[in-house]
Amino acid sequence: MITRRSLLAGTAALAAAPLLPRRAVTAGADPEIMEAALARVQIAPEGYPQTEIWGYGGAVPGTEIRVAQGSRLRRRLINSLPQPTSLHWHGIRIDNAMDGVPGVTQEAVRPGGEFLYEFDLPDAGTYWYHSHNQSYEQVARGLQGPLIVEEADGPDADRDEVLVLDDFRLDPETGQIAAFGNMHDFSHGGRTGNIAVTNGAFNKTLAVKHNERLRLRLINSSNARIFALELRGIEGWIVALDGMPLEAPQPITERLLLASAQRADLIVDVTADDGGEAHLVRFEGEEGFSQVLFEVRGQASVARRGPPVPLPPNADMAVTGLDDALRSRLHMEGGAMRGFASARMDGRDVDFREAAQAMNFWAFNGVVGMPEEPLFVAERGQTVRVEMRNDTMFPHAMHLHGHHFREVLPGGGLGPLRDTLLMFGDETREIAFVAHNPGDWVFHCHMLSHAASGMMTRIKVLA
Ligand code: C2O
Ligand code: CU
Repeated sequence: MITRRSLLAGTAALAAAPLLPRRAVTAGADPEIMEAALARVQIAPEGYPQTEIWGYGGAVPGTEIRVAQGSRLRRRLINSLPQPTSLHWHGIRIDNAMDGVPGVTQEAVRPGGEFLYEFDLPDAGTYWYHSHNQSYEQVARGLQGPLIVEEADGPDADRDEVLVLDDFRLDPETGQIAAFGNMHDFSHGGRTGNIAVTNGAFNKTLAVKHNERLRLRLINSSNARIFALELRGIEGWIVALDGMPLEAPQPITERLLLASAQRADLIVDVTADDGGEAHLVRFEGEEGFSQVLFEVRGQASVARRGPPVPLPPNADMAVTGLDDALRSRLHMEGGAMRGFASARMDGRDVDFREAAQAMNFWAFNGVVGMPEEPLFVAERGQTVRVEMRNDTMFPHAMHLHGHHFREVLPGGGLGPLRDTLLMFGDETREIAFVAHNPGDWVFHCHMLSHAASGMMTRIKVLA
């Protein structure tokens, strides 16, 4: 077996014998390497210095992984960072041991260490990977990238474009990533940046043609920003959310909200004229900014109109048995302006002031951070309903690992399959899912400063 290390050690020998045949890469060969390491990239506009990031493959977002549904992914994580790290494969119905959560499914990989991730990809869709250690810092420094699992039978579109929406907080003088651990971020809406980017660039531009049909895979990889999006000069449909196809494409008629970690697959037609411009617009309040500029040059040879056919559904996703479901409740408390009266922290009851001194501002069911006991223990295959009450002033993006859920709507219907649900202050929302995947699965707010300062729990599914 040749690991990366032995290859490096053998570099001199190879250089001395340049005519050695190269080793063929075949199935079952050594896994590809994902090295988490420092790199310098241009994030700020031209004229500003480069920014030092922590990334996979020297870039942010990291190299796109694109594989066929049903295939097996093998990646060897090598940690060349100054901190322990791990890799989480967000939204994948994964083997629990490969979920990448330090303290729950593995030990964090120490600097200089490595870990082999190897798992099947049962579902097609738009997913992403990111560090799950010290995430509020490591993901913001750039340890994240897209994971695209392709359907055998893809939709009829001219192009497939992955658009990773993110933001960075850069020091305007030096262009470097601003320091972490700001109390205001933790206790309020989380760390938002001062420069919004797409695929790591603040001025992402794509050349398109009039009447071209595009599949856009939007991924919000930011720490805390809720992207509020509209289309200009482009029209279309949402065809999947958080990787999972909608039963029917949904026309985009209003502002699309994409919370941290959420994804949306769109199929859109360029309606702007040849020579004109189209935009993916990001709203901050009522002010719109061009998040992505589409320069319209030329005409597509075929013009399609009318809704696309739905994407093929992923197997075994039905959420049934709601009447006999195991019922659970999650009471979300804390944050600025409200706090909590008392919560359990490190095995004792503390008030909000004492929790805040330890940089903890949030509690789930009266516990700050990971509780000793899981929120609930489900039998494999059991249907579970969790009622979540957001007793805070802030929005939260609640993410469950290893499963997709549906929202139980007030009228009794079910929402689309998702792995991350955006909840606003004072909302109560209920989700339901079939606990089909054995293991310990974390359940947390994906506004990463919130997860780091209390909003973290886990569930257990028996084997
Ligand atoms: Cu995207 Cu717990 O993770
Ligand atoms: Cu939150």
